[in-house]
Amino acid sequence: MADSAVGQSELAAGSDRTDEVIPLARPVLGDAEERAVIEVLRSGQLSLGPRVEAFERLFAARVGAPHACAVSSGTAGLHLALRAVGVGEGDEVVTSPLSFVASANAALYERARPVFADIDPVTLNLDPDAAAAAVTARTRALLPVHIFGYPADMPAFERLAEERGLAIVEDACEALGAVNADGTPVGGRGHPAVFGFYANKQLTTGEGGMVTLGDPAMKERIDSERNQGRAPDMGWLDHDRLGFNYRLSDIACALGIAQLERLDEMLAQRGRVAGLYRDGLTGIDGLELPCPDKDGNARGWFVFVVQLPRGVDRDETVRVLAAAGIQSKPYLPAIHLMSFYRERFGHREGEFPVCEDVARRSLALPFFPGLGESRAERVVETLRAALERA
Ligand SMILES: Cc1ncc(COP(=O)(O)O)c(C=O)c1O
Repeated sequence: MADSAVGQSELAAGSDRTDEVIPLARPVLGDAEERAVIEVLRSGQLSLGPRVEAFERLFAARVGAPHACAVSSGTAGLHLALRAVGVGEGDEVVTSPLSFVASANAALYERARPVFADIDPVTLNLDPDAAAAAVTARTRALLPVHIFGYPADMPAFERLAEERGLAIVEDACEALGAVNADGTPVGGRGHPAVFGFYANKQLTTGEGGMVTLGDPAMKERIDSERNQGRAPDMGWLDHDRLGFNYRLSDIACALGIAQLERLDEMLAQRGRVAGLYRDGLTGIDGLELPCPDKDGNARGWFVFVVQLPRGVDRDETVRVLAAAGIQSKPYLPAIHLMSFYRERFGHREGEFPVCEDVARRSLALPFFPGLGESRAERVVETLRAALERA
């Protein structure tokens, strides 16, 4: 596999093939990943081996956290993080309705209730004032989501948590590389923050996740619960608490270590693609682009999601793009309006108007490090023409 298979050379040159389907996402994988995985296979130690701790150490250092726990997915990390901060049956967890469904589901795994509050219309993150209004005597934790890689207003959530005696778990699954307004990297504030490594993420291990955190006792608990409830000094088949199989294999961790080494370059490439889209799409009437970095917050570029002008038929836009070989996706639907959440909790349209308006109009465009100039231009021109006709 050429190291630049989907990386640097393509970005530099772009692609002039107009018949090629442009996918929504594509990971950057090369020689380093191949070598890392083969080394693990040859070692014979495919799980519970030395790469797990090595990946945790390097990842923690990367986000400035004292500790990190590698887990099998972002969802698993959210579940264990909520348990670790004490969320249990009957508790409420205040969170954003504009997220991937896993952030709300994780509370349900513990028979707690996800309580939604509306989002900020600019950042699209949970609005701290709306979150404060949703806190009740049963609220145990706040679960802000750094949606589309843009940092949630952590100082405001930390003040609220302090005032009301609440825990915080950050859903940072989309936000590797993001920086908070005060200069701390997302994931480095001490309370548990959860990252995801699915194949479309800034860093991928195929499937996987990481919880970063400050408290060593919490690290011990998560390490044990991801491994069927076994304490570090216990032997095989000895378990002193309820646990799960949420382990991340050494194969995945080796991939993660190799990906960490190229993370800065991949993030820079994502930033360049975002710049190409911003230059090409600015000024289209009614089209809203991802908010620019503000007040010291820096986005960790994950997806490029636009809000289509009001009144434009989104399904038709998706069809026009698809006919031109360009993948796109309505992203994200509002969680509270999904059938399961409607039926279970009686949610209805109109509860969170900002989120619902965004969810109705949002469209993710192809976005990955090696996208390149000519592909970005194809996307821009096709979308522009589709919107002019709409
Ligand atoms: C905001 C958010 N939360 C949670 C998750 C869950 O991560 P995973 O798919 O690794 O379980 C994702 C992943 O797509 C996500 O985007």
